Amino acid sequence: MITANENFLKLPGSYLFSDIAKKVNAFKEANPDSSIIRLGIGDVTRPLAPACIEAMHRAVNDLTDTQTFHGYGPEQGYRFLTEAIVTNDFLPRGVQLSPDEVFVSDGAKSDTGNIGDILHRNNIVAVTDPVYPVYIDSNVMGGRAGELGADGRWTNLVYLPCTAANNFVPQLPEQRVDMIYLCYPNNPTGTTLTKAQLKVWVDYALENDALILFDAAYEAFIEEQDVPHSIYEIAGARQCAIEFRSFSKTAGFTGVRCGYTVVPKEVTAAAPGGKRIALNALWNRRQCTKFNGASYITQRGAEAVYSEEGKKQVRQTIDYYKNNARTMKQGLEAAGLKVYGAVNSPYIWLQTPQGVSSWQFFDRLLHEVGVVGTPGAGFGPSGEGYLRLTAFGTHEACMEAMKRIKEWLK
Ligand code: MLT
Repeated sequence: MITANENFLKLPGSYLFSDIAKKVNAFKEANPDSSIIRLGIGDVTRPLAPACIEAMHRAVNDLTDTQTFHGYGPEQGYRFLTEAIVTNDFLPRGVQLSPDEVFVSDGAKSDTGNIGDILHRNNIVAVTDPVYPVYIDSNVMGGRAGELGADGRWTNLVYLPCTAANNFVPQLPEQRVDMIYLCYPNNPTGTTLTKAQLKVWVDYALENDALILFDAAYEAFIEEQDVPHSIYEIAGARQCAIEFRSFSKTAGFTGVRCGYTVVPKEVTAAAPGGKRIALNALWNRRQCTKFNGASYITQRGAEAVYSEEGKKQVRQTIDYYKNNARTMKQGLEAAGLKVYGAVNSPYIWLQTPQGVSSWQFFDRLLHEVGVVGTPGAGFGPSGEGYLRLTAFGTHEACMEAMKRIKEWLK
């Protein structure tokens, strides 16, 4: 008898962003003339940098000739890209990495979702709350989460609440944990940790033989000095942290698909017989078996992000979104709302008006204003009372959304 993986049966109906898309589509069908502004899922709207487009065109041409044709690439990514990553993303910040500690992939969503493959099912997992749903769902699939309680919390997960009450800074857990997911700048709250605040977690991981899974997908949006771009800027992190990066938000690759994961060779985990095993070797083994590499065309496009023109063009696009975030923060504050994030991040985390739940606010915003956000409660119990807006829309759409919200809240 074929039997399903029972862990999948524990998952709630569907993925958060699919639920929202269904609600928005139903509204659109019922109100075909409405003009909806989509500031829900963090999907980019600006075209790719010309340097990336040109590089991808050249890569397509390479495939037309037997001399320059590329079939299967290295599962870890082409050396031209891993070297460019090490040289441009890490060296300038004083972080020394070897290219074979970098694994190129089709994005941080896949890697943060798949990393559990190489970690024992019995590890205790801590997540900040609210949280990017992939970390939780993938641990449900991997059998680490236990059961979903009536309070919206999984029985075996350790939740680290991040709300205005603690300035969105997670406190160390009271019980020992093995795997700790940290995403900074944070999705969904848009808030950050300072170097000193992140060091607390690195020290904890070192003292407790724990592993930090650090998602730095929004690193390019950091503008404040004391906010680390990489966890490896913190002493000791090479021994206890894996870092995930993405070209999606940095270079508009949400549709192209490219990211990478850094697994330093010093990061180890306990293995039977009292031995330690390098996670770099395990991740390499996993990728070689289950992944055939991001496409050559994609990786040439990603490499161009690090060219002189690429850097300038990508920066212009990030500045465009950052300007949106600033404008939205000002607009929402002028409308009387309390707003967090938006400074080192494309996400704006707003407090819903007194007594209005995040799903109620989401529904009213959609039905009465025609603006799509993401209800905070969809990211976890501590997201209740908040709603997330993204700054990835066009500037005009962001301005129009602010105008409508201001009118509505008058
Ligand atoms: C989000 O809206 O949280 C992100 O776009 C989702 C993702 O990056 O997968």
